[in-house]
Amino acid sequence: MALHTSLTHIAIIMDGNGRWAKARGLPRIAGHQRGAEAVRTAVRGCRNLGIPYLTLYAFSSENWKRPASEVDDLMGLLRVYVRSELAELHSGGVRLRFIGERDALPRDVVTLIEESEALTRANDGLTLSVAVNYGSHREIIRACQQLAGEVVAGRLAIADIDETAFVRRLETVGIPDPDLLIRTSGEKRLSNFLLWQIAYSEFVFLDILWPDFSEQTLHDAVAEYHNRERRYGASSA
Ligand code: FPP
Repeated sequence: MALHTSLTHIAIIMDGNGRWAKARGLPRIAGHQRGAEAVRTAVRGCRNLGIPYLTLYAFSSENWKRPASEVDDLMGLLRVYVRSELAELHSGGVRLRFIGERDALPRDVVTLIEESEALTRANDGLTLSVAVNYGSHREIIRACQQLAGEVVAGRLAIADIDETAFVRRLETVGIPDPDLLIRTSGEKRLSNFLLWQIAYSEFVFLDILWPDFSEQTLHDAVAEYHNRERRYGASSA
């Protein structure tokens, strides 16, 4: 049966690559490689369902604590993914965006990010946001710094700091808040991901490991979302 959805934005915490590899006696990089395949599956699935926004947590600001070799592997995979997919994503109308602090990233990764954003800027199909060196606390603090700076400079009145003003200083500006947040691998944590933006999101925690994520998994999560009643604080009907 074909699935129809009015869902606008799915955010995914892709977890379990390491455990997937360990269960097979493989190095962690093998899990991340299969994880990158699952990224292709998730992007294809969202495009097929006509979901306009997908945001993926690829590398958190805490992931620098991993061994340098694994950090290098993850940056390498990001390079490979963008280089190998960019033409296809672009011709499919995908707009690529990256959120997260760029200063600490390898120079060539920053260039790749900037070029892919510039190339796909005018596309109006799926907006694929990839979070790299992203952390919500930093994002929120930077928004506060920006607002404080504008107040000190006399460009903004304190009374004008409201939700709209705040959201405009977040990295996700222009992207609607996620309707659905999915995390794989059985962990039930948010890990500093989109903390402001998920205030009213539905959470779906899946026991499968990220490399096993399939289009069917996506369909099941979307179906679960539609089975829930979103009330935004109102009472039930
Ligand atoms: C979590 O698994 C996954 C990550 C930290 C990285 C996610 C990266 C990818 C899926 C590949 C590259 C991304 C793109 C966008 C091409 P884990 O290593 O924490 O797994 P574990 O908890 O089982 O150890």
